[in-house]
Amino acid sequence: MKIEVLTLFPNMFSAVMSESMMWKARDRGLLDFSACDIRDHSGDKHRKVDDSPYGGGGGMILKADVLLRAIDALEPAADTPVILMSPQGRTLTHAVALALSRRVRLILVCGHYEGVDERVRDLAITDEISIGDYVLTGGELAAMVLIDAVVRLIPGVLGAEGAEQRDSYADGLLEGPHYTRPPEVRGLTAPEVLTSGHHAEVEHWRRRQSLRRTWQRRPDLLEKADLSADDREYLAGLAAGEAD
Ligand code: ADE
Repeated sequence: MKIEVLTLFPNMFSAVMSESMMWKARDRGLLDFSACDIRDHSGDKHRKVDDSPYGGGGGMILKADVLLRAIDALEPAADTPVILMSPQGRTLTHAVALALSRRVRLILVCGHYEGVDERVRDLAITDEISIGDYVLTGGELAAMVLIDAVVRLIPGVLGAEGAEQRDSYADGLLEGPHYTRPPEVRGLTAPEVLTSGHHAEVEHWRRRQSLRRTWQRRPDLLEKADLSADDREYLAGLAAGEAD
């Protein structure tokens, strides 16, 4: 996958894109990443990229001509998503990340200041994504969140085969608890079933823990989850205060 980011602060991406899984994805040739400076397209000796809003009011607006030149320079294909990071966009979820992970190329546009001239949306933006109902000072951190969530879903990026399929949200449920050595920590022991060697029992226990955690913390997710008869019986037991 190729991801190109348009930003006023390309250096913000250096650390995040040069460590851990994002670096491995690049190193393995699974991700071609670049951060392009919008200022290079200002066409102005002062490298000006923003101006005050027509009609007055506070703040500065990213200029449409500059941003459109920056997007054009990347030569997006007709089907390349050109995504504006903005608190007004649709919310990033696992399903959105999964759909984006199947694309071969993404262009992410990071707004800054009060916003971007609306004509950029009208002429060049194909999608608009928010990472949550709060306002950041710019789209850069949001773009990095989106990149991380998407790139880890590209087959081959995560080491353990299919690890992403066990993620919270992957099957519509939250993950249950995890344990590792030592068996006892300050009087708390790891559940015995996990060291029993019975693979089927471990999977059954994990499924129930996942159901229990989702029921406790995000019961709204259970409405859309794919549940078996056994799952439903267990949840009914939890609701009746009979199961643990
Ligand atoms: N830019 C500013 N706030 C944002 C948010 N919540 N999501 C995406 N981009 C943003």
